[in-house]
Amino acid sequence: MRAASLPALRSLRCLRASTRRSSWHHLRCPARSEAVRHWYSSDSTSESGSSNSKPYYVTTPIFYVNAAPHIGHLYSMVVADVFKRWQQLKGVEAYLCTGTDEHGMKIQRAAEKAEVPAKQLCDENSAKFRDLAQAASIDNDFFIRTTDEDHKAAVGQFWLRLKHTVPEDFGIYKGKHQGWYCVSDECFYPEDVVQASIEPQTGKKIMISSETQNQVEWMEEETWFFPLTKYKQRLLDFYDANPDWITPRSRLHEVRNWVENNLEDLSVTRPVSRLTWGIRDPEDHTQTIYVWVDALINYMTKAGYGSKWHTSKEDTGIWPADMHVVGKDIIRFHAIYWPALLMALDMPLPKKILCHPHWTMSGRKMSKSIGNVVDPILAIERWGIDPLRYFLVRNGRSGTYAKDMEYSNQLMEAVYAKELQANIGNLFQRIARPKKAKWSTYEACRAYRDGKFELVTASEDDLAPLHKALSTTPPAVQTAMDELNTAEAIDVIFTLLKEANRAVALIKPWELANTCATDPSNESARAELNRAIFYFTESIRIAGILLQPIMPGKMDQLLESLGVAKDRRAFQHAVLGADDSYGLDQATLVERGATRKHPVPTETLFPPKAGIDDDQPGFSRKKSQGNLMYNTVKNLDAWEGPLEK
Ligand code: ME8
Ligand code: MG
Repeated sequence: MRAASLPALRSLRCLRASTRRSSWHHLRCPARSEAVRHWYSSDSTSESGSSNSKPYYVTTPIFYVNAAPHIGHLYSMVVADVFKRWQQLKGVEAYLCTGTDEHGMKIQRAAEKAEVPAKQLCDENSAKFRDLAQAASIDNDFFIRTTDEDHKAAVGQFWLRLKHTVPEDFGIYKGKHQGWYCVSDECFYPEDVVQASIEPQTGKKIMISSETQNQVEWMEEETWFFPLTKYKQRLLDFYDANPDWITPRSRLHEVRNWVENNLEDLSVTRPVSRLTWGIRDPEDHTQTIYVWVDALINYMTKAGYGSKWHTSKEDTGIWPADMHVVGKDIIRFHAIYWPALLMALDMPLPKKILCHPHWTMSGRKMSKSIGNVVDPILAIERWGIDPLRYFLVRNGRSGTYAKDMEYSNQLMEAVYAKELQANIGNLFQRIARPKKAKWSTYEACRAYRDGKFELVTASEDDLAPLHKALSTTPPAVQTAMDELNTAEAIDVIFTLLKEANRAVALIKPWELANTCATDPSNESARAELNRAIFYFTESIRIAGILLQPIMPGKMDQLLESLGVAKDRRAFQHAVLGADDSYGLDQATLVERGATRKHPVPTETLFPPKAGIDDDQPGFSRKKSQGNLMYNTVKNLDAWEGPLEK
């Protein structure tokens, strides 16, 4: 940081005098100011989920490296990844940033406790998050570590600008600070939200935060302050102008209340005597920059701040972020401190915050500090990453992000069996992978292309509901996804699949196939069979395309098996009849392992898992067309899922 910050420092000192007036002007006159217009532009692009002028940019929180990742961290990563992939599906260029938060008292103490150098602890644990991202098919473009040199340089610049380019009264100032600090949460708490408690292990009297139940300790120190209270009105105006800035809306009310009633100036450094593990104030060597200021800037570092651009008057690349995905535990930092800091520097604000609730175990927030965590790597090994991703994002009860979600292996098992195996897996198996292939999806697709369906003489009614579902599904999924409602999107897709399974049972294509086999000259029967198979296959193809953001690996396998070309898997292709060239011909099937006995290779999409079989209580297994069907999953009945309307 030293090398990078010195020239920056010099130029900033010169800048201060010249920009003071114009900054003030920007801050006060939104209508005329380019920079301020950015703040107020939140609504204009977030509805469609994309901006025309810049790529989509989504972030996850950067995670503390004091311990290994758990399912909660994986969840934030998966949610961000699903929305990145959703944008890409729509043809929008998109970027995702995740990473690790490595400075601060919490890490310093964890390293002391483990008796290892702080950097070593960070290296070891950061690698676990990086490995998790990879194991979870997270398509992150950046993996930031706050100990990276480019990030330290960005923080140094941001800091110096706070000191030198912000109008008097709106920039940082030095003062004495005293209050209750929580190392676990890395923040001060006001007097009225701390309470006395007894430490269970020792019986010692301690003070804790009433919000998080984590221990707080009294601190008195000389630090720099950010005058948050001076930003009160601007924050309130911003929230009022952008009621959809946070999903769900209820969180914005909480944030607004906090700003209205609890705002205090923010202590933004710690004395070096207390905290060494962090980014030093480039000028005041007695102070280390507060870990949250350091951490929040990460979102801009990877967008080129401090290296490619320095002020909002330049081309800010992919900044502002289109969406920060965060857990509800850190909403205040993202929805109050972060916009205020950005306002101070006339920087565009993030367009959206998706604030998700917590995963709980036995009713308590899954947390490193409590220790009630599910190891995501073990869960991936057991279920495969795609089923796990599906399970995670199908939650959130009607997709409102309102309620905490309880993680349990039983639920995961039930979802795997009832939704993945019995619904999409079953349809795929019956139609595209029948053991005794009496039809061909390839032939069905060609029959459609060649207009053969006109030869059908039978009544068409049996396929009408499926036809309708096929046309309504893609736009309904688009609406749900653009509203960030993954649970609703899944619900819509699985309703289509259910309808397709129902139509298969009703139409009984194997009977049509028998008619064709008995009388090969019956062109009408052949057309009828192909037409039905085409509608069933279209259901699989369209569902497969739409589910790619959620289960990228499995849906690749599915689309590959259907012979759908790589360049025909975008959202625009998720339309009935939009692709008339898929299907695998006999030669390709043989190449892929088809035999006379099994004319189509029969690899399953969602194979049986240990623990889900006949003797599992709650499941009954029956044979249907040689494939497994799971019925009556009792433990799902009590659970409000997308299929249980
Ligand atoms: O707060 N359920 O890092 P952190 C759902 N470094 N999500 C959970 C979760 C749970 N039980 N537990 C954690 C920090 N998360 C800071 C962030 S950002 C500039 C700095 C997820 O390691 C959720 O996203 O404590 C939560 O906000 C985040 O991990 C906190 O991770
Ligand atoms: Mg935490």
